[in-house]
Amino acid sequence: MRFRIGLGFLVLLSLCFTVKSQCIRSCDLALASYFVWPGSNLSFIARVMETSGLTIASYNKDVVPNRESVQVGRVNIPFSCECVNGNFLGYMFEYDVNSGDTYHTVAEIYFSNLTTVEAMEWFNSYSPTNIPDYQLLNVSVNCSCGNSAVSEDYGLFITYPLRPGETLASIAQNVQLDETLLQRYNPGVNFSQGSGFVYIPGKDPNGSYRPLKSSSKGLAGGVIAGIIVAAIAGVLLLAGVACFGFYRKNWRYKPEESNGAARVLTGIKVHKSVEYSYEELARATDNFSLANKIGQGGFGAVYYAELRGEKAAIKKMDTQASKEFLAELNVLTRVHHSNLVRLIGYCVEGSLFLVYEYVENGNLSQHLRGSGRDPLPWSNRVQIALDSARGLEYIHEHTVPVYIHRDIKSANILIDKNFHAKVADFGLAKLIEVGSTSLPTHLVGTFGYMPPEYAQCGEVSPKVDVYAFGVVIYELISAKQAVVRADSSDSESRGLVGLFEEVLNQPDPKEDLWKLVDPGLGDNYPLDSVREMAQLAKACTRENKELRPSMQSIVVTLMTLSSSTEDWDVGSLNENQALSSSTEDLDVGSFCERESQASSVHLMSGS
Ligand SMILES: *[C@@H]1O[C@H](CO)[C@@H](O)[C@H](O)[C@H]1NC(C)=O
Ligand SMILES: *[C@@H]1O[C@H](CO)[C@@H](O)[C@H](O)[C@H]1NC(C)=O
Ligand SMILES: *[C@@H]1O[C@H](CO)[C@@H](O)[C@H](O)[C@H]1NC(C)=O
Ligand SMILES: *[C@@H]1O[C@H](CO)[C@@H](O)[C@H](O)[C@H]1NC(C)=O
Ligand SMILES: *[C@@H]1O[C@H](CO)[C@@H](O)[C@H](O)[C@H]1NC(C)=O
Ligand SMILES: *[C@@H]1O[C@H](CO)[C@@H](O)[C@H](O)[C@H]1NC(C)=O
Repeated sequence: MRFRIGLGFLVLLSLCFTVKSQCIRSCDLALASYFVWPGSNLSFIARVMETSGLTIASYNKDVVPNRESVQVGRVNIPFSCECVNGNFLGYMFEYDVNSGDTYHTVAEIYFSNLTTVEAMEWFNSYSPTNIPDYQLLNVSVNCSCGNSAVSEDYGLFITYPLRPGETLASIAQNVQLDETLLQRYNPGVNFSQGSGFVYIPGKDPNGSYRPLKSSSKGLAGGVIAGIIVAAIAGVLLLAGVACFGFYRKNWRYKPEESNGAARVLTGIKVHKSVEYSYEELARATDNFSLANKIGQGGFGAVYYAELRGEKAAIKKMDTQASKEFLAELNVLTRVHHSNLVRLIGYCVEGSLFLVYEYVENGNLSQHLRGSGRDPLPWSNRVQIALDSARGLEYIHEHTVPVYIHRDIKSANILIDKNFHAKVADFGLAKLIEVGSTSLPTHLVGTFGYMPPEYAQCGEVSPKVDVYAFGVVIYELISAKQAVVRADSSDSESRGLVGLFEEVLNQPDPKEDLWKLVDPGLGDNYPLDSVREMAQLAKACTRENKELRPSMQSIVVTLMTLSSSTEDWDVGSLNENQALSSSTEDLDVGSFCERESQASSVHLMSGS
């Protein structure tokens, strides 16, 4: 029996390494020789090649005099050289389809023959005659990591598409390398064939050749020998696990600590056009002028910008981005939902800048308490609650990985011109988390919105957001701050949660509930709807997090509420419905040492 299992693992292992051995020597970085065609420009090329103009310029100091103009000719563009699917050395770019694109235009124009039509057809499921718009296409570009049998002096290679009229002699002359060396790296290739590509040694931004890394030669043999030893030693299970981890990792990201320098030089490898240059952001914000400043949050200042013809909000963060957080940003730029403020891109020159979609109409806090604004009608408030709940439900249930916002508050709920709401700043909690490994208990959040298990024990779950969302509902009802400043006679300030609970725990809450309703609403609200919202908020802010509803069920409740609120004017004020609430057990369970009530105060952060 044991023997059979052992044999099974051996088979699995050898399978795993047969696949791997096709390209075990990945080297992280390669260059693509992009022939700049008339009508293209640097920002377009940077976008397609998933890098920045600055990075391209650094590798082509002689060809790219300034970053706006680029002459027709070749530029070298750095890209990740990975072991794609465990099969071949290359990188899988993703290309956003525009209408009218074909595999031919993508391969031969936009990617300047760095890939082939055949490869496009192979890696994409769409029929060549029927490529849907606004989808992503897989675009493979092959690369080389060198060959120790030819020379150990070269460890960085250009994938170089051949063009008609070129010859071995002309290319060798251009790069000032020996003809026989180039031919030996590309055995049997006719350099005059005018198509296809060759690999030629390339230079670092500082103008020197990079020698072959010792770790990237002869690895295959070593690994296989290691496997045999491992198998004999009977560490089969361990190796099997390691093998699968290794194999799975290879598909896109291949973090290799030893080659950190390459990562820094290429900029952080990102998908799509998400990396901006500092210069571009400075221009778009009039040098981060005071006139363009539209806000100051817990994470940093926010500026209005017009970027690439669109309105944007740029957040200048007080924090530096760590490597891990940059990987995180990559994921965040891919989260799209109409009730989430979209992260369009970022810049890491100097500080960390985040580029967001611009939302026209201010934040909820301003609408509830800002001077000079009309009070929001009740139906808008219900809609805003529903929109924010949908945004939160999305990050709790539908993103991979799942996000917990941890700083839900009215200032983080933005309102668009149609009075729909979008949740801002989700995912930023990770920045703090990753950035402060020395401070494991550092809390992200705002006093008045933090549930006890989080404020006191740092316990994080989606229910942290549910609690804060409940506080926001109380704000929608009362237009009061989450922490209510007491009048001068009484020095203590109180939480909105306590204020509402006092009323809601009365035998007939309706008596006093109206006293808490925003005076700005006048008489223009259905008390039933207000009461139901208050009950929902009460459920959300229960002390025992297990008893708080999920965002999903909150959305359902609010949908019902919002549809009944729409036809409220017709007079559906039936008051005789008994309150379903009453006896709610508040002190269930001891989530952690509860005595440290006072400690929550100095844990607050944010604005
Ligand atoms: C850059 O080139 C692309 C592709 O040809 C084109 O669509 C875009 O308008 C150009 N942008 C500028 C600023 O010239
Ligand atoms: C790519 O190759 C095709 C066919 O050889 C050629 O017509 C086209 O001009 C090339 N593209 C570029 C950008 O050089
Ligand atoms: C890259 O290399 C693989 C394996 O050698 C090959 O099958 C594929 O066609 C190449 N891709 C391109 C774009 O030429
Ligand atoms: C691109 O490649 C991925 C991973 O292999 C695959 O899931 C996806 O379907 C491909 N895209 C298209 C358009 O075929
Ligand atoms: C290389 O290709 C060119 C153009 O197709 C052709 O004229 C030449 O004869 C070829 N050279 C060899 C050695 O095959
Ligand atoms: C140039 O870069 C290479 C590789 O990144 C490095 O080893 C070398 O020291 C650098 N040379 C100078 C002069 O900075």
